[in-house]
Amino acid sequence: MDVHFKVEFEGEEQAVLGPLDVSLSIMELLKAYDYPIEATCGGMGLCGTCHCFVDGDTSLFPIGDDEADTLDNIPFTNSKSRLTCQIRVHESLEGAVFHLKPGN
Ligand code: FES
Repeated sequence: MDVHFKVEFEGEEQAVLGPLDVSLSIMELLKAYDYPIEATCGGMGLCGTCHCFVDGDTSLFPIGDDEADTLDNIPFTNSKSRLTCQIRVHESLEGAVFHLKPGN
């Protein structure tokens, strides 16, 4: 079973399927789809290079102190900013849209 969401990058939106039977972060899934996510810290929530803006319900994955600290230290964040390494592929994300920044 999969969860369906979209990824918007450089003005183009693509449908993405997230497998629910494998424990993946959104960052790992985006890398599997060959989006240019650097993720230089490997998903530890420290580098900010997996930053995106999310339209959707991420309340099951609330922003922790470390993620908040990292978001505070990178440019161009807003209230929809999240680190994709801190969000798991989950059915609650059905219909969500992940907006990737140019130069991610
Ligand atoms: S991969 Fe470094 S903060 Fe997400």
